[in-house]
Amino acid sequence: MVNPHLYFELEKLRRVIIDFSVNLWRTFEKYADSTSLSYAEGAIKKLIQSVYNYEELKANQQGFSINHDLKVTLSVKDLCISYPALSSKADTNILFSNLNRKFQPGRLYAVVGESGSGKSSFFNTLYGVNPYATGEINITHQQNIIYVPQNPSFKQGLNWLNTLLYPALSTKFSNEPFYEELLSIIDRYTEDLALNHVKRCAETSENQLNWTTTLSGGEAQRVALLQMFIKVFLKKQINPEANIVLLLDEPLSALDEKNKSAIFNLLKKIVEKYNITALQIDHSSEDVILTNYGEHVINFGDLEKKRSSSSSSGLGQSC
Ligand SMILES: Nc1ncnc2c1ncn2[C@@H]1O[C@H](COP(=O)(O)OP(=O)(O)OP(=O)(O)O)[C@@H](O)[C@H]1O
Ligand SMILES: [Mg+2]
Repeated sequence: MVNPHLYFELEKLRRVIIDFSVNLWRTFEKYADSTSLSYAEGAIKKLIQSVYNYEELKANQQGFSINHDLKVTLSVKDLCISYPALSSKADTNILFSNLNRKFQPGRLYAVVGESGSGKSSFFNTLYGVNPYATGEINITHQQNIIYVPQNPSFKQGLNWLNTLLYPALSTKFSNEPFYEELLSIIDRYTEDLALNHVKRCAETSENQLNWTTTLSGGEAQRVALLQMFIKVFLKKQINPEANIVLLLDEPLSALDEKNKSAIFNLLKKIVEKYNITALQIDHSSEDVILTNYGEHVINFGDLEKKRSSSSSSGLGQSC
């Protein structure tokens, strides 16, 4: 699944490619007689075709609307995701259809369902980067949607503080009245997330600029959560009324049970304190899901059952 941040970068790159291919095409038209350029010509034709295919795909999204409004948290209406089928037996691969749901601020929801049932696709759609969706989404402003991927990656060459504040640098906040509070919150969450040893390692001079390359999976997930907690704090400093939507794609999957439960409780506290609307993909057992989330569960269900049912409304009753 493509990380939405990467997707935006790809979108920018696509625009560069369009400019590049159009200009290159004009150059080819000028030298059309030269047979030695035929291979390159074919490659450029393919490139242009793929850009047009993408344009067509986007144009096909007429049945999709995503409305960003600072005053709303999150609701979805008649949402459907259907990918082009990979096998020739079916026309499309319908993940779910007619999903209608309102999400309340200050609550943490579990998004469950077996592998391949559409959980990450749902998140990408909420983030506005899935071209295969139809329906309507009402959601807070794009800059207030925070997405935490399952396998986070970090910009290399930054020290501890600037990694946590990325893409901003600490100098951006050093004159702000809340700077001291920001530093003390970072220290507190570093402790809560059991990251003191990582911080120490990051601050030794020989590791200062490459410390993120040696993080274990669970450490990387905790650093990503720390970045997210800091983002929430900063967004609320800038606008205390801001509605924040958190999309957490299995951020605790690489943690041991003890860390997992302590961090889950911390997450829940932060969600309540800052009145966040949070959705977390969670593969825990049914009992754990019930204890941790109560009735706040969105269930994408059992894939085999979906496939064997003749109806196309793939989604389980709970939605
Ligand atoms: N761009 C795409 N084109 C076609 N099919 C896709 C695309 N992206 C995802 N799929 C398919 O859609 C299905 C759902 O994928 P998704 O990543 O949403 O599942 P998931 O519930 O997040 O699974 P997991 O728990 O393994 O992360 C999968 O069968 C996947 O192969
Ligand atoms: Mg997934």
